[in-house]
Formats: sequence, C-alpha cells, structure tokens
Amino acid sequence: MRIIKVNATDSTNTFLREIQRKNIFFENLCLVAYKQTKGRGQRGAGWISEPGKNLTFSLLFRNMELPANEHFKLNAATSLALLESLQKTGIKDLSVKWPNDILSGNSKIAGILIENNLKNGKIKDSIIGIGLNVNQENFPGLPKAASLKSLSGKDFDLDSLLKILVEEIEASFEGFKNQKIKDVLEKYHTHLFRIGKVSEFELPSGESFSGTIRGVSMEGKLRVEQDGVEEGFLMKEVKLRY
Ligand code: BTN
Repeated sequence: MRIIKVNATDSTNTFLREIQRKNIFFENLCLVAYKQTKGRGQRGAGWISEPGKNLTFSLLFRNMELPANEHFKLNAATSLALLESLQKTGIKDLSVKWPNDILSGNSKIAGILIENNLKNGKIKDSIIGIGLNVNQENFPGLPKAASLKSLSGKDFDLDSLLKILVEEIEASFEGFKNQKIKDVLEKYHTHLFRIGKVSEFELPSGESFSGTIRGVSMEGKLRVEQDGVEEGFLMKEVKLRY
C-alpha cells in the first residue's frame, strides 16, 4: 500500500475521506501525519497526540464489498492486527476493550476510528484511523493513557513501526474477507478486556449497573449479562468503567 506522509492536517480520517470523495486516487492508501490539528476520536471526542512522538494515521480500503451487517469484522480485524503487532514489541498484558481500544493492563495505548462509506447495503470504502501512543511520555489530564515508551522505557522508530502495522493490517483484512464473522468473533473474544468478569457500566443517563461481559454479537453489540439475562448494547448506549 502506498504511504503518504504529511506534516500537518486537521485529521487523517477527514483528509482521506476528501481524497476518497474526489476520486483523486483509486488505490488503497495510508496517510500518516506528523501533527493533527483536529484529531477525532470515538463518540465525538477529540484525539490529542504530541506532534512527532506518536503514530496518527489512516488507511483507505477501497471496494471492500462487505455486507453492511458485517461491519464489525473491520473492527475485529483492525484491533487484532494491531494487538498482534504490538505483542511482537514485547508489550505485556495486551487486550482489546470493546469495540476497539488497545489496552496494556488498564492503560489505553491505541484508539481506532472506523468510518465506512455504504452503497446498496454494502460497505464500499472504509477509512480506518489509528492513533497509537509510541514515544510520548506524559499524558496530562489522561490518567488512563500510556505509550509503548512509558510502558517499556524504550524509544521506537515511528517509520519502521508504521510499516509493520500497515502490512499486518493489510494481511489481516485479506484473511478476514473469507472468514465467517462467527470465527472472527471467536478470535476477538480471546483478547476481549474483562470478558467473563463482573464489571461496572454506565448508561447515557449517568446511571450505573454491574454485569458480566459475555462477548460481542455479530452486529457488534456488547453482550452483557445481568441476573441471568443477556442484553446487547451499541457503543453509544453503554460505557465500561475501568
Ligand atoms: C478513539 O479511541 O477515540 C479513537 C481515536 C482514533 C484516533 C486516530 S488518529 C488518526 C486518525 N485521525 C483521526 O482524526 N482520528 C484517528
């Protein structure tokens, strides 16, 4: 995949979306920015990253032709590829917090923002945005954030790491295309944070409840069991307290 580097942009996801809309390139692309001025996170949040210290990049996958109801395959494929690449760096206790945060222990080291373009009930183009904390050492106001450096004490070369991640994600996408969503989920569950453990959740109303994570459904809902009854939650419907 061709990798394009820019010094600064508002958000690599937004930039790639413009490229995709204007049909400037017709191939899959990776866009990496030294600095984002308006990095975007999930649930409408921002993504803050010290310029030049971390990886902030997006991948544009074209002509996926994936049934829209299998969209969670993309989350699972990306999270697993990222997790498996990071395992090779020696970072310990890695897991995926639903839907696709990468944690080491209780600390978040990477976030993923996937934005799809649908046509006739199918995902046509997909933009996979990844923010990975690499060499940043302090995260003011973000007590749960960590980086590869803060966890290992080592500095990482951003270009080599990016190359590894892009190759791993591409390979993972190729592999997952022909796999059943059920099998993809099974693998995802083996790395799912707090699966089978009683956890605290927060509803949009601010109310909280405790339940046990049983897994993720094919539609990507978090399956939580409370008093023997299982319920599925969409991302905006529940937040895990950890
Ligand atoms: C999250 O955990 O909330 C998702 C964060 C995703 C951040 C990345 S950084 C590169 C790409 N461009 C963006 O604006 N967001 C994603």
